[in-house]
Amino acid sequence: MADFAQLSTPDADARAHSARLLALLRAEIEAAGGWIPFSRYMELALYAPGLGYYSAGARKFGPGGDFITAPELTPLFGQALAGQVDEILRVCVSASAVIEIGAGSGLLAVDLLLELERRGNLPERYAILELSAELRARQQETLNSRAPHLAARVHWLDALPESFSGVVVANEVLDAMPAHLVSIRAHAEGVFERGVTSAPDAAALRWADRPAQGAVLEAARSLALPQPEAGEYLTEINLAARGWVRTWAERLGQGALLLIDYGYPRAEFYLPSRANGTLRCYYQHHVLDDPLWWPGLVDITASVDFTAIAEAGFDAGLEVLGFTHQAQFLFNCGVLDCLARRGPQDSADYLRAAQAVGKLTLPQEMGELFKVIALGRGVEAPLSGFARGDRVHTL
Ligand SMILES: C[S@@+](CC[C@H](N)C(=O)[O-])C[C@H]1O[C@@H](n2cnc3c(N)ncnc32)[C@H](O)[C@@H]1O
Repeated sequence: MADFAQLSTPDADARAHSARLLALLRAEIEAAGGWIPFSRYMELALYAPGLGYYSAGARKFGPGGDFITAPELTPLFGQALAGQVDEILRVCVSASAVIEIGAGSGLLAVDLLLELERRGNLPERYAILELSAELRARQQETLNSRAPHLAARVHWLDALPESFSGVVVANEVLDAMPAHLVSIRAHAEGVFERGVTSAPDAAALRWADRPAQGAVLEAARSLALPQPEAGEYLTEINLAARGWVRTWAERLGQGALLLIDYGYPRAEFYLPSRANGTLRCYYQHHVLDDPLWWPGLVDITASVDFTAIAEAGFDAGLEVLGFTHQAQFLFNCGVLDCLARRGPQDSADYLRAAQAVGKLTLPQEMGELFKVIALGRGVEAPLSGFARGDRVHTL
């Protein structure tokens, strides 16, 4: 975790930007009677129009940003994933379409489209659903510069379609959905929900807990969270991600969702040893643990409870088609064949690509922490991405 003293203070423009978001947060807190749940804070801090971390202009992805995602690391990620998309599109007799959710800089769209073209199975439509207007513009630029002949095939959606058949791809999107924070205290009955409050005389926002109610309380009870002997057990419950999967289950005709993210099956998520939860923030490649630090300037994220995602889909009528580590999925999808296509093994390009594949697949890097889950309807399992090493039994 970064020491705050090591971090460069945001520049004057960034501070002014954060101050505008803070004013909005204070107004919302006041209108809500003095307290908002953390999930609402996270939603505004990331997505408030024009002000949130993802909605405003800051550079987020890549070496000059705050964090690096798999598609930013290497095109081989998208090329391997395209193998799985290709297979699902071939069995989807009713449609040839892909929707990518939260497409970041647009690189994954480029890599998927170019590889699907190479495989002779370009989807008729490739849609991107992106909450951020700034990222949408960046995605357009990326497509125009890297795959201009395919750019016209891509269009942007403002909301989930009412019905859809095809493949839905979401890389590192579930972790960016607003999570509720809940706390179980030693020597205290019940479950508390952590929220945010604002004192008119204090510069910063503050944490405040309330007894959990409604859906949050119900979800926390069903998890049977560990009771700490001292202090508290603080963790996250992502109701938004579950709701999002349920909505897809209602709208998906034939096809599958391919969801890639960091997280765990439930039995490994809510461990007694994980007493501070998984919530963390990224700022200029430093990991911070205080999401109230400069709202709007830092990314906020929480690991995914993949059992909750599988349950939400299954209960709403989808089949769990596969679940495995990212490394296993990429190997099953032929990432090493994609690497072999990079040319002579002593070329600088090959060595760079091989290093990136190591990062994507080594257990101590992204290989095991990241998982892939496929949920679908009208698609027969096993899919090739889960042919070896399927871990559905761990959900
Ligand atoms: C960590 S970034 C990942 C970006 C990209 N997929 C990548 O791998 O580089 C999270 C992205 O998810 C988007 N996002 C989060 N919730 C979303 C939702 N409900 N619908 C659409 N996009 C969403 C954000 O706007 C952002 O672009």
